Amino acid sequence: MKFKKILAVVAAMSFAVAAFAGCGGGAGTSSSSSGSGSAPKTLKVGSSIDFAPFEFQDESQKEYQGFDMDLIRAIAKEMGSEAEIQNLGFDGLIPALQGKQVDVVISGMTINDDRKQNVLFSDPYYDSGLTMVVREDEQSIQKFQDLKGKKVAVQIGTTSAEEVKKIEGVEVKELNTPADCFMELKAGGVDAVVNDRPVNDYYIQKTGATGVKALPEKLTAEQYGIAIGKDNTELQQKINDALKKLHENGEYDKIFAKWFGEQKK
Ligand code: ARG
Repeated sequence: MKFKKILAVVAAMSFAVAAFAGCGGGAGTSSSSSGSGSAPKTLKVGSSIDFAPFEFQDESQKEYQGFDMDLIRAIAKEMGSEAEIQNLGFDGLIPALQGKQVDVVISGMTINDDRKQNVLFSDPYYDSGLTMVVREDEQSIQKFQDLKGKKVAVQIGTTSAEEVKKIEGVEVKELNTPADCFMELKAGGVDAVVNDRPVNDYYIQKTGATGVKALPEKLTAEQYGIAIGKDNTELQQKINDALKKLHENGEYDKIFAKWFGEQKK
C-alpha cells in the first residue's frame, strides 16, 4: 500500500516535470532519469580485470580482488549502493561508459586530456607512472631512449601504448593484457614491456616471476581516476564526496596498506 502511494507520487512528479519541460520551448537539455537525486541502487562498474594489484582474479576467491575493487566497493557502500563489476577489455571501457553499459570505470585508468574529451574523472586516487620490464640478461636496454630499434609490448589502449609510440624507431606490439605482454617478453617476441610501475613491481615481486627485471627509470608521472559518463556531473560529485569521506575516516589508508604495505606513496 505504501509502495503504491510512493509510485503514485513519483508518477505525478514525473508527469509534472515532463509537462514543465514541455513548456520550455525545446531547450533540449532535460536531464535523464539518472539524475534523480539519489545514487543508483546498483552501481554498474566496468574494469579490465588483468592488472594486479589493482584488479585481478584469484582462483580461490569468487569476487574480483585488488585495490581498485576494494576502493569502488567502499565508495559504492558510502553512497548507499552496491558495486556490480563487469570485466571488459581495457580498450572497451570508455565505449562501455559512453554506451551507458556501465556507470563508472575503475581500472588503474590514468587521467589525461585525451580521455577528458569523452569522460569525466573523479579526483585522483593513486599516483603512478610507467616503467619497463626486460629479460634479466638484457644489457642494451637501461633507459627508455635505448628502446630505439627494439621491439616493445604494451597493453592496447593504454598510456604505455601512447608514450612508447612517441619514442622514435620503436616497433610497438599492442596486446590485450599485461600478462600477454610479459609472456611475449619471456618467449623472446619482444625486448621490453612498458607498463604501469606498481603493476610491474607486483609482477616481479609478488608473482615470483623469473628471468625478468624491472628497470628504475620512470617515463611519466600519472594519476589514476574513476571515469564517469560525460553528462553525469551529479554522479561525479557523489563519487568525489565518497572518496573524500574514505580519506577522512581512514578507510582509504586501510585499503592502501592492504595492497601496498604500510608505506603511503
Ligand atoms: N594507467 C594506464 C592507462 O590508463 C594503464 C591502465 C591499464 N588498466 C588495466 N586494468 N589493464 O592507460
